[in-house]
Amino acid sequence: MRFEISNIEELDIISEHLINYLKGNVCLILDGQMGAGKTTFTKNLLKKVGVKEIVTSPTFNIMNQYKLHDLNINHIDAYRLTNEEDEQMYLEQMIDSFNIVEWSKNLAIKYENYFKVIKLKIEVIDENIRVFNLEGVN
Ligand SMILES: Nc1ncnc2c1ncn2[C@@H]1O[C@H](COP(=O)(O)OP(=O)(O)OP(=O)(O)O)[C@@H](O)[C@H]1O
Ligand SMILES: [Mg+2]
Repeated sequence: MRFEISNIEELDIISEHLINYLKGNVCLILDGQMGAGKTTFTKNLLKKVGVKEIVTSPTFNIMNQYKLHDLNINHIDAYRLTNEEDEQMYLEQMIDSFNIVEWSKNLAIKYENYFKVIKLKIEVIDENIRVFNLEGVN
């Protein structure tokens, strides 16, 4: 699915397609350059599904966790991870959770082996326009 988005409110349309997938053992992989809007999208999605806490970027702490009823939600930014030593620790947290991962390639996890993988790729067209490509949802 392809979405051309010219303001942040329109991210709602994409989030709606993900609501049915908000459950354990799902991994939403967010791709796109620095500043593409991965964290901005995460904020929109988590707000929309009912997370009441303020969602911030896990740039420094790598992983933020939220609870929604009985579901654990992990928001991971692996940008600063450069080796494989933490892989097992993150994987343990991710099992049975709903996971959102920025810079997923920096975590040596074969996501497909453990999770239903959904990919959202963000392309920056200009200052205001982004193209979002969503794969893995019906
Ligand atoms: N259509 C749009 N969708 C998302 N963000 C947008 C859009 N238009 C403009 N922006 C702006 O682009 C910036 C995106 O920053 P954000 O932190 O979400 O990027 P990121 O992909 O998470 O970057 P990083 O890789 O550094 O974590 C924000 O300042 C946001 O306001
Ligand atoms: Mg980010």
